Amino acid sequence: MLKLNKLVNKNFLSSLDMSTEEVLNILEIAKKFKNNDLKIESLNKVLGLIFDKSSTRTRVSFQVAMSRLGGSTVDLNPNTSQIGRGEPIKDTARVLSRYCDVLAIRTFNQSDLEEYAKWSSIPVINALTDLEHPCQALADFMTIKEEFNDFKNIVLSFIGDGNNVANSLILCGALLEVEVRIACPKGYEPNKLIINKAKETYKNKNLLQITNDPYSAASGANVLYTDVWSSMGEENQKEDKDKDFNGFTIDNNLVKRAKKDVIILHCLPAYRSKEITNEVLESEKSRIFEQAENRMHVQQALLSLLLS
Ligand code: CP
Ligand code: NVA
Repeated sequence: MLKLNKLVNKNFLSSLDMSTEEVLNILEIAKKFKNNDLKIESLNKVLGLIFDKSSTRTRVSFQVAMSRLGGSTVDLNPNTSQIGRGEPIKDTARVLSRYCDVLAIRTFNQSDLEEYAKWSSIPVINALTDLEHPCQALADFMTIKEEFNDFKNIVLSFIGDGNNVANSLILCGALLEVEVRIACPKGYEPNKLIINKAKETYKNKNLLQITNDPYSAASGANVLYTDVWSSMGEENQKEDKDKDFNGFTIDNNLVKRAKKDVIILHCLPAYRSKEITNEVLESEKSRIFEQAENRMHVQQALLSLLLS
């Protein structure tokens, strides 16, 4: 049954800020928004967007989601606000709490996001940090559910860097009891704390595998997922990483190892012929643009719950 219950946690800073039931509820509400089966148009609330890094999908999907709910957004660019001048987060957060109803923040350190949340009286959403990208993971699992109807026996293999996107897939996958395999070169494994939290969340189920072998990870997978090798803020490591990730490209050879009905995901933006070939990205197995669309639906669902 569809419930528009408030979320237990005020903020969405990590995938683990939601319970399994809350994630499933968000996915259900998002699907209703997508199918035009649910209309909430009178929220008349304001979302503040603070983006310390570039964004196309996250920024625009939040803006459109808010407008579909009858609300509006304020785009706070650190360079043209006092944030860039170094005004303390605790001051910015307290001031913005008096103007806005919710904040979505994209920044580097998870601890800065937590500082915003600590001093804000309004909900704070993680719009990507170096550690996590939880809104992305919601859209990813919505896309997987659309394809396979449920998460039973689904194997999700992420081939690439153990980065923010991988971390949120691991945590959200643990909530949904999805088997998650991460294949990355040695030294690029996901954060240990995230792995431990996921193991606790999975309880005794041994459904998380970290490997350095992309072929074994892809074998029998239902979903093959990748992301850029060098994330925003890692531009100076690009040359080294391009070498270290040799062999971790999702190409047709890797796709052949997966299930026949495998789908390909990528959070975008992509570097064709680095982490994924153009052929695979554009193939009929790709659900990458559905996945991008779903960002808007899950965020509309998230906002409607945080603001209702
Ligand atoms: N996937 C994603 O977060 O894209 P943007 O950087 O364009 O927001
Ligand atoms: N890992 C990438 C994701 C971009 C959406 C980054 O942080 O740049």
